[in-house]
Amino acid sequence: MKLQRTLILLVTSVSVASLSVSGCINARDFEADAQTPAVNTTEQQKYNLLYVPTPQPVVDAMLQLAQVNSDDLIYDLGSGDGRIPITAAQKYGARGVGIDLNPERIQEANANLQRSGVVNNVEFRQQDLFETDLSKASVVTLYLLPEVMTKLRPKLLQELRPGTRIVSHAFDMGDWKPQQVQEVDGRTIYLWVVPENVPQNLRQ
Ligand SMILES: C[S@@+](CC[C@H](N)C(=O)[O-])C[C@H]1O[C@@H](n2cnc3c(N)ncnc32)[C@H](O)[C@@H]1O
Repeated sequence: MKLQRTLILLVTSVSVASLSVSGCINARDFEADAQTPAVNTTEQQKYNLLYVPTPQPVVDAMLQLAQVNSDDLIYDLGSGDGRIPITAAQKYGARGVGIDLNPERIQEANANLQRSGVVNNVEFRQQDLFETDLSKASVVTLYLLPEVMTKLRPKLLQELRPGTRIVSHAFDMGDWKPQQVQEVDGRTIYLWVVPENVPQNLRQ
């Protein structure tokens, strides 16, 4: 049990280190967040899921970069407290689905949704994002560890329809070059549009 806990902490530290190295979350931001009881819980340790919310000005910029509108269905993969789909519904009248494996995040997102005034536009599902059918999304938002981004790329390109916009906070997708890159409050955000014909080298 002790060994298991040590391993979990070790894996989390490695992930945090890679977040810091890539410039997504600096160590200070992460430590500040991790000390907040709402984001550093036994459930989080059980699932070994890192949670750091995207600051609201960056959420706003991500939605603008994707040119979200009322026809859109947004999937936030790893939706945390639900701020991205909730904001998309409030500001643009979009519909949204938030996916998170951590039941505490889903509970928190649903509590935020109840207060948001857009309860009919958004739903949250406790699910592994790798087991989620993405085919209905017109916009996908991401703030995930680099190793998760790498693993996710083939699924995005396989399941999303051509023209679907993908916006990521902090992490890119390797040799799939983004269409646009923006700096917002010291954070980097990326935009890709799923092409009609996906080059073979991006399928894996
Ligand atoms: C860095 S937080 C981002 C939260 C939110 N998208 C935002 O930008 O504020 C990453 C979230 O992804 C979730 N997550 C990580 N791996 C996941 C997986 N395989 N399936 C579902 N959720 C996952 C974590 O629980 C965490 O809430």
